[in-house]
Amino acid sequence: MVSQPAKIALLGAGLIGGEHAALLFRNPKTELVAIVDPAEAAKSVADQYGARHYCDALTMLEQIRPDGVIIALPNALHAAAVIACVEHGIPCLVEKPVADTLEAAMLLVAAADRTGVPVLVGHHRRHSPDIAKARQLVAEGALGRLVAVNAMWMADKPGHYFNTAWRREPGGGPLLINLIHDVDCLRFICGDIEEVMALTSNTVRGFEVEDSASISARFTSGALGTFLMSDAAVSPYNWDTAAGQALYFPHQPENAYFLSGTQAALAVPSMDLWMHETQNGDWQHPLVRRHVTLDGSRAYDNQLAHFIDIIAGTATPLISARDGMMTLATTLTIARSARERRPVRPQELIDDAMNS
Ligand SMILES: NC(=O)c1ccc[n+]([C@@H]2O[C@H](COP(=O)([O-])OP(=O)(O)OC[C@H]3O[C@@H](n4cnc5c(N)ncnc54)[C@H](O)[C@@H]3O)[C@@H](O)[C@H]2O)c1
Repeated sequence: MVSQPAKIALLGAGLIGGEHAALLFRNPKTELVAIVDPAEAAKSVADQYGARHYCDALTMLEQIRPDGVIIALPNALHAAAVIACVEHGIPCLVEKPVADTLEAAMLLVAAADRTGVPVLVGHHRRHSPDIAKARQLVAEGALGRLVAVNAMWMADKPGHYFNTAWRREPGGGPLLINLIHDVDCLRFICGDIEEVMALTSNTVRGFEVEDSASISARFTSGALGTFLMSDAAVSPYNWDTAAGQALYFPHQPENAYFLSGTQAALAVPSMDLWMHETQNGDWQHPLVRRHVTLDGSRAYDNQLAHFIDIIAGTATPLISARDGMMTLATTLTIARSARERRPVRPQELIDDAMNS
């Protein structure tokens, strides 16, 4: 018996929403049934893919009752959209960050828990084969005990990117737009981060928002990390271009993460695994490099395939609303540490949000 394609609606047909629409259209297991976005351009996108066009999500949910919804709206609209979907019993894939504030994320998590309807957060990198393999290698102990992690996200955004006012203001900078993906990957590969100490700088662009940051972190496992971030520096050292998985960036083969353990070291995404030739080697003995092969699959395709399985009830979200909330809390912790010039733990922000 051939099963019917999953009927999926899209909320928001902007930059990433347009990519989701194309992915849905190409996938034989999905049918893009509706696009909700009041922008004039969104009507053309709906026409292009033969989908119905709506300006209001609730009307669409009532009339179409899709099998699943992809939410690619501005961050401040995520929580209300997720809550509407789960209250209609409809699984959703919500773009990152899960919400714009921890308070909103908590409301969203509570709705998901109350209804039991699955929510997948769009940290697409977790579906990339290099990130999945790095997590597996660490979990299997291929590196021995994880000791230290060095991560980088640096790139040079063009001047016109900042014509939009919110990108120049606190909250609109690379911490919450870009580094949040790395925070999520590092949590996924290495486990939770329990404390951070951060410095930020805005001296290159001179906007109110940060353009660069350096961060020291302690993972719950005891491993230590240093992360460097800038959106004002020429660099191939960012996962988006290094992994060749991104939808709209050139591929610049390089590394973004360096993990070192008591037995081996791993560079991601080149997937070079370095270890001693002999079991009892030390720094006076040569290292050998083994390339870990990957399956060649694509992060966004894998993410959609996973969402289809969630809709079918054969999988649970690889990144749940609660997990997405912890990634958001950890990233906001970095911002608070830089602002208040002191070490901060994510738990402090969770406690504050619960008491607010
Ligand atoms: N995972 C990724 O690779 C990735 C990449 C880019 C953006 N994002 C995330 O996706 C989300 C959208 O980002 P973007 O860059 O596509 O933004 P965007 O501004 O390009 O698109 C947002 C769209 O939402 C529409 N919209 C606004 N209010 C609406 C409403 N009330 N109802 C329906 N539609 C409405 C706008 O008209 C616009 O078309 C953000 O949360 C962002 O963080 C994720």
